[in-house]
Amino acid sequence: MKSLPIDADSIARLAAPHVNQHALEIQPYGRIVKLPNGLSESACLEAVQNLNQLLADTITLRDLYRKHHWQLAGATFSQLHALFDKHYEEQDAIVDAIAERIQSLGGVSIAVGHDVAEMTLIPRPPKGREAVQVQISRMLHAHEIILREARAMARRAVEHGDDGTNDLIVGSVIRTNERQVWFIAEHVVEVSSPT
Ligand SMILES: [Fe+2]
Repeated sequence: MKSLPIDADSIARLAAPHVNQHALEIQPYGRIVKLPNGLSESACLEAVQNLNQLLADTITLRDLYRKHHWQLAGATFSQLHALFDKHYEEQDAIVDAIAERIQSLGGVSIAVGHDVAEMTLIPRPPKGREAVQVQISRMLHAHEIILREARAMARRAVEHGDDGTNDLIVGSVIRTNERQVWFIAEHVVEVSSPT
């Protein structure tokens, strides 16, 4: 049998990656794909909307911890550098849990900074460095925004019979944020005795 000549250029083109691909989204943001989870579509839709707000604010708080971990100054540097890193990691775990809850309810989670910046209720900090007391005040304010909205969202989830969302918000978001508030608030307490 006579073999065909090998066209090396054609073969190499087959191995090239197909870059710059574009197509319609497979699910638009804000729409639910109903999954057989025993919850109504309206319950899933409201939970997804609430969780996306909670996600935007949690990503922002997480990133505040990173910013302040990097930009710290002062005598408590080592201690707070480690504490802010720990809180960052805990918030990062919550970010993933919220986003995966949104997807498991048939929704679409926000993900990138552009969307977070549009949605978050937490005030934008300056790009420059701030004193540690100001850093902590800024994060306490962010925690309080999250705790207020989280408690309201947890109650709505109960009203819809959405125990999974309630459990995530209460067990992870609220409990972690309350503990982190305690740990950082104690750094801005005046501890000298009255004379
Ligand atoms: Fe670090």
